[in-house]
Amino acid sequence: MKTIQIINGPNLNLLGKREPSVYGNESFKNYLEQLRIRYPQCHIEYYQSNIEGELINKLHEIGFSTDGIILNAGAYTHTSIALHDAIKAITAPVIEVHISNVHARETFRHVSMISSACKGIIIGFGLDSYRLALESFLTEE
Ligand code: DQA
Repeated sequence: MKTIQIINGPNLNLLGKREPSVYGNESFKNYLEQLRIRYPQCHIEYYQSNIEGELINKLHEIGFSTDGIILNAGAYTHTSIALHDAIKAITAPVIEVHISNVHARETFRHVSMISSACKGIIIGFGLDSYRLALESFLTEE
């Protein structure tokens, strides 16, 4: 059975309360429960931190053993060379996800420091972005 690790970065602990017009009304806890019910054929691990170094530590901790990582780095996407380097340093494939279509928003969100280190990118499908990334890991050989 595959283990897939979801990692959420800063401010994503507030999903459901934070700017609902952009990020929706659903909490990630609720979404994750539904995802685990829908995909009993894999283990879905979850970690969230608002702290850049903690996200890097988590990547180091699980990045040589887990089957795939779904990473929404929040605003660190646009700033963090350290996260880019951490993704490059590990062996597990990482899919970058975003809930909102960052390219339809402010120009500072159009740049990602981490995309080039990732296996692929899924952007703008709401919370379904995470499920689409999961599907990708589960359907690959
Ligand atoms: C986000 C987009 C980022 O620009 C923003 O800083 C977030 C959330 C998204 O999922 O749409 O925190 O990663």
